[in-house]
Amino acid sequence: MLRGKRVNLGPIKREYIESFLKWFNDPEITQYLLAYRPMTRMAEEEWMENLKNREDAIYLSIVIPNDDGSETLIGNCGIHNIDWKNRVGEVGIVSGEKEYQNKGYGTEAMELLLEYGFETVNLHRIELFTYDFNIGAFKSYKKVGFVEEGRKRQFVWINGSYHDAILMGILAEEWREKTKK
Ligand SMILES: CC(C)(COP(=O)(O)OP(=O)(O)OC[C@H]1O[C@@H](n2cnc3c(N)ncnc32)[C@H](O)[C@@H]1OP(=O)(O)O)[C@@H](O)C(=O)NCCC(=O)NCCS
Repeated sequence: MLRGKRVNLGPIKREYIESFLKWFNDPEITQYLLAYRPMTRMAEEEWMENLKNREDAIYLSIVIPNDDGSETLIGNCGIHNIDWKNRVGEVGIVSGEKEYQNKGYGTEAMELLLEYGFETVNLHRIELFTYDFNIGAFKSYKKVGFVEEGRKRQFVWINGSYHDAILMGILAEEWREKTKK
């Protein structure tokens, strides 16, 4: 468990499947992701079952701890496409419970994920792609230290028009300088 000020990152549990199915079948969420096909229970169960075999990826849940010791699941995040030789990983994040969006939780979860990626996994570079209309995500990523490195022009067809995919990256040394670690 990775503990932040208001959110923690923890393991993916089987009982989260209903929440994952809700988020990944919601077009308001999936418009920002690569996913566009309906997410089936079978596919989600298979993804969960396969997590233990994934050498190239580490996925975590985003939870808010409650006073009574329980936790509220609000999203998930992870590092995937891990290139162990060059120590590069790609991150992804979904804060699926909409009432918890735009309250700083996603930014805090990404701070924890970067700390995990650089300090525990020993990555040298962390990168991500976001779409040009995802203003909130772009703002949140800049806040934690990602810089825009380039654009794939008209890379995705979403909601009836083409959009750019923005490549963002952060190096371990930049993250250490920013967080003074
Ligand atoms: C992207 C995501 C993880 C960010 O998490 P979050 O908790 O909502 O983000 P935060 O509140 O930490 O930061 C978002 C910032 O953007 C701002 N914002 C959001 N929409 C905005 C808009 N349309 N215009 C300007 N600012 C906007 C928020 O006010 C906040 O800024 P502030 O902290 O200065 O007030 C979350 O919104 C999410 O899961 N979205 C759907 C899936 C997704 O987009 N995943 C990422 C794919 S690359």
